[in-house]
Amino acid sequence: MCGIVGYIQTNKSLNSWKLVFEGLEYLEYRGYDSAGIAQIVNNRVEVTKAVGKLANLKRKIAKTPFSLSNAAIGHTRWATHGKPSIVNAHPHISSNGQVALVHNGIIENASRIHKTVLGGKKLQGGTDTEIVTEALAHILIKEKDLSKAMFKLVNILEGSWAFVAMDINDSSKIVCARHNSPLVIGLGENYNFVASDVIAFVNHTKNAVEIKQDQLAVITCEKVSVFDKHNQEINFTSQKYEILWDINQAQKGGYSSFMEKEIREQPSAVRNTIYGRRTNEGIIELDKLSFDKSYFAQINKITVIACGTAAHSGYVARFAIEHWCRIPVEVEYAHEFRYRDPIVDSKTLVVAISQSGETMDTLMAVRYAKEQGAKTLAIVNTLGSALDRQCDAVLYTYAGREIAVASTKAFLAQITACYLLGLYLAEIRGNLFIDEITTKLQELKTLPDKIAKILTHYEEICQFAKLQKRQKSVLFLGRHIGYPIALEGALKLKEIAYIHSEGFAAGELKHGPIAIIEPGQLVFVIVPPQNDRAGVHAKVISNIEEIASRGARVVAIAEQGDQTLPKGITKTFFRPKTPILFSAILDIIPLQIFACSLAGALNLDIDMPRNLAKSVTVE
Ligand code: F6R
Repeated sequence: MCGIVGYIQTNKSLNSWKLVFEGLEYLEYRGYDSAGIAQIVNNRVEVTKAVGKLANLKRKIAKTPFSLSNAAIGHTRWATHGKPSIVNAHPHISSNGQVALVHNGIIENASRIHKTVLGGKKLQGGTDTEIVTEALAHILIKEKDLSKAMFKLVNILEGSWAFVAMDINDSSKIVCARHNSPLVIGLGENYNFVASDVIAFVNHTKNAVEIKQDQLAVITCEKVSVFDKHNQEINFTSQKYEILWDINQAQKGGYSSFMEKEIREQPSAVRNTIYGRRTNEGIIELDKLSFDKSYFAQINKITVIACGTAAHSGYVARFAIEHWCRIPVEVEYAHEFRYRDPIVDSKTLVVAISQSGETMDTLMAVRYAKEQGAKTLAIVNTLGSALDRQCDAVLYTYAGREIAVASTKAFLAQITACYLLGLYLAEIRGNLFIDEITTKLQELKTLPDKIAKILTHYEEICQFAKLQKRQKSVLFLGRHIGYPIALEGALKLKEIAYIHSEGFAAGELKHGPIAIIEPGQLVFVIVPPQNDRAGVHAKVISNIEEIASRGARVVAIAEQGDQTLPKGITKTFFRPKTPILFSAILDIIPLQIFACSLAGALNLDIDMPRNLAKSVTVE
């Protein structure tokens, strides 16, 4: 949440603010409640801020252009403390005019700092960031040097922060610090960047340095210095890395939204997650493992922790892992997990699923699980993210960068990784024979082509969605592995089309929710494969009859060739024949396309839905 960028260069021939603005455009998915840029010009600060998306900031800059300067910082905000307004937008400039600062995170003891450091002085807006900006300026008066002042400041703070700050009297350096929020430096020749994510500067340099937890960095045009939490300068060679992807991944590639592009990239997201995991001996391997594999044979429970879409992938995983490994799997929202005194011990494997690897609720739940003695395994899409570093074992999803706020391809990759984890555990624990695992892997490998087949119906689903513009409420029903897909279909629709939608377990309907079915109510129903062995197909067909007889308009997601579907169904989208445990990965695709197309038909901003941000880095 919130994107920050800093840039510093030797000469002023390139507009620093333009490079910062370009970086913010790539980071806008992290928040878009307000944005701003500040730069130093001859010992004075130029700052422009605007409420709303970056386009508003651009218009303001066009009216009052920035001067040439060698250093600039910028921010795009997802509001936590204080409403989106110019006063609360970053960069904040201290009231004595000496410090400019941008911040990503939440300072939990801000009101104490306000009293103890600032003597309760009157503030403009009173956000946590305004307080720390004032505190930094206050400390700087005594310390004289911005990096020393920053060190003193972070030592009295609690909460989470990534700070990038400038001293208006000294444009030779930018100072940054991090604690629980990401920051990465981009190394150039006679220039350097710092940002929340490499995406902000990958167009200019592929050489990055990750700023680690509690480190502080001083960045000049020619040099980067990194300090540890005791303010000792350190050799940061081990923190350097090369960015291996290019900016095309962060562009729409001709599609009208990132969400559509990412839906269409799902065959490769699944394919890339499957391949490269088997050794020559045919064994599935994890990407990282810091303990002996034999531990997996001793565990007596798996607890999956995640939020939102990632949690839905965990619900899918439960069906496969319990069935293959005969081990209980609990799935829990990360934000609920640690507050209910869960039973977790050294025999519990805690699996944390996350696209960003930065979701604070998930990180905190992992920390709690580790304190209870559990081993933790991350299924994560972002290499080098906090979750990647924090967990004892890692299985990457190779979905590629996901930019749209609504998660799609990462979801499919997460389910795929969960299947792989299930097979990996079944192999170690001896629950399945190698030939059974091989058969299931072969089946898994057919999924990318089946996904591609469903995508050939993109236009048809889109046309259907366009006719549903007047819907006020849409319901989604599923049973067994179709239930989490119903939840996910409803989540997609509400988050980007702002239409009330709910996912129900189809069997639960008659226990209450069926009361809301009125003639004309649109209901999507996930119909399991005909010979599902779990015996749920016939039950779902009955559920369709129950709601259709009460006037619901039913859209079925069913297996190709299913002849048992009741007459009178409004529309059916078919999936290629697939065993029930793998069907979830296919059934969500029409629902994603439906939500994306309906939001488009309603002229909504598909990639940046209101009130949301891509990574939820606050609790
Ligand atoms: C919904 C969505 C969110 C995320 C959730 C977890 O489309 O994207 O529900 O799934 O915030 O995010 P990660 O996976 O980054 O931990």
